[in-house]
Amino acid sequence: MGERQPKAFVTGWPIDQSLSPLIHRYWLSEHGIDGDYVKHACPPEKIKDFLSLIADHHFVGGNVTLPHKETAFGVVDHKTKTAEALGAVNTVWLDDNNLWGDNTDGYGFLANLDENSPDWDDQDRLKRGALVLGAGGAARAIIHSLQSRGFSTIWIANRTVERAEKLAQEFGEPCRGISMDNLTADVHKAGFVVNTTSLGMGDGLSPTDLSSFQVDTVVNDIVYKPLVTPLLAQAKTLGMMPVDGLGMLMHQAVPGFQRWFGVRPEVTATLKALLLDHIEMNR
Ligand code: ATR
Repeated sequence: MGERQPKAFVTGWPIDQSLSPLIHRYWLSEHGIDGDYVKHACPPEKIKDFLSLIADHHFVGGNVTLPHKETAFGVVDHKTKTAEALGAVNTVWLDDNNLWGDNTDGYGFLANLDENSPDWDDQDRLKRGALVLGAGGAARAIIHSLQSRGFSTIWIANRTVERAEKLAQEFGEPCRGISMDNLTADVHKAGFVVNTTSLGMGDGLSPTDLSSFQVDTVVNDIVYKPLVTPLLAQAKTLGMMPVDGLGMLMHQAVPGFQRWFGVRPEVTATLKALLLDHIEMNR
């Protein structure tokens, strides 16, 4: 009997909108690997069972997305330090019948900026600090990543200020929780701004007005539908450096593919164009 075809999954609830199959199937075909990557819709009450049975379903591993990242953290046998720090797992794989969990969101966030705006964390910007807009689940991996690069201050600004303060307390120095609608002169000097809220996702809204920020601010949005959000459009108009969120989505997929299929895939312009076509067609 021949070796079984390696097969990975992405599970979430809902999962229809996920672009991950497009990314992984593109890489499988690029590398001539006879494998597959499938969507598995899984309601919250079934996720524990599903993850504990992935070997029985002949999966080599997979991605876990909303709302299951915290449950996955609790279910895996072993986890990486990054997953440990975040309390959330987005990538799982089997090793000797043990289920491992990692969180590659922060890796994707950093790799996207390193690729598209290499000076985003230069000495000057590190000194001026970073502004994180939003204090939900998506902010966590980003705050952790910004800490790892050494920003002097990380302001976490949120509509509900208590959530920002709680997150700042949890992550510790150099985080500060602040209110979204009261940004001080210090905050306006930030060298880097990132939107982690859901604002801009087809609603035409921006989480903040960038006109008081410096012209060399690097501005990143993790929303990628549309690719140019109102925040990024304003950054561009003001001559700032906008970085879109599609790169984070593509880069966060790299470590998983390597674990499951044994090849480190590349994030290319062709892959980005493929995703953009899909987003455009499904608008
Ligand atoms: P996720 O876990 O995906 O980040 P979330 O926990 O619902 O999602 O967080 C969404 C973020 O977007 C929060 O920071 C939220 O602000 P609140 O904590 O005040 O709710 C922010 N957000 C969503 N809608 C918003 C709006 N209309 N105005 C300002 N912020 C908004």
